[in-house]
Amino acid sequence: MAKVAIVTGGTRGIGEAVSLALKERGHTVVANYGGNDERAQAFSQKHDIPVYKWDVGDHEATIAGCEKVAAEIGPVDIVVNNAGITRDGVLHKMSFEDWNDVMRINLGGCFNMAKACFPGMRERKWGRIVNIGSVNGQAGQYGQVNYAAAKSGIHGFTKALAQEGAKFGVTVNAIAPGYIDTDMVAAVPEPVLEKIVSRIPVGRLGQAHEIARGVAFLCSDNAAFVTGSTLSINGGQHMY
Ligand code: CAA
Repeated sequence: MAKVAIVTGGTRGIGEAVSLALKERGHTVVANYGGNDERAQAFSQKHDIPVYKWDVGDHEATIAGCEKVAAEIGPVDIVVNNAGITRDGVLHKMSFEDWNDVMRINLGGCFNMAKACFPGMRERKWGRIVNIGSVNGQAGQYGQVNYAAAKSGIHGFTKALAQEGAKFGVTVNAIAPGYIDTDMVAAVPEPVLEKIVSRIPVGRLGQAHEIARGVAFLCSDNAAFVTGSTLSINGGQHMY
């Protein structure tokens, strides 16, 4: 059944692939983005998907943004919390801002989006929330105490909210991507990335569409009995 879906960070990388996959499956997709106007406009024109700008780490802005989407497009039944940033650095060099920005956007964004959209899903007795976690939230990663903590938090958030949504037909699941060929991973210094890829059993980076297919499944009616789960898509890097 066609639904209205919001994909946060939905104009680039994994988010772009998710927006396209949900549109292909007949949903009315809205892509949220936080900063890059040029990329967002190009994405919107190319794929005929409306884009809405707000910072998911900003509680009031998120509530207002989701209200605007509901008024202009329709009640939101699918949320994909994909927006995320990295501010990598070893702890002794990491600033409080680098810690706080990552927690505020990556983990706080999931709370803010759920506050905006979960009550309506609960009332309408159908909903899908898919949170994009990370292999680094499961296994940890040198130089990422902020990101690993936020992503690990996403996995806990998912399991808790799944329990609250279950009897209302609202499923809440997570995907834990491994290293995917996106701008975010391209920013990892080459020698470091080479070492990481050498430890991925499948022997390559993942592709954004390989994550998007998992998201599309979790958003479908076929996944009605799947809730509180984490689907790891990481080429065998971490078998959890
Ligand atoms: N384990 C143990 N020691 C390590 C290590 C590791 N994994 N990586 C580096 N070190 C050591 C180095 O060997 C070096 O030791 P020596 O000084 O004794 O030689 C020391 O730590 C300093 O290393 P760097 O030169 O790398 O330190 P830096 O301060 O210049 O950089 C860093 C640190 C920014 C964290 C850099 O190592 C880095 O970018 N690492 C990659 C982090 C990463 O994987 N990010 C993922 C981003 S993508 C993503 O997050 C998406 C997703 O969900 C998967």
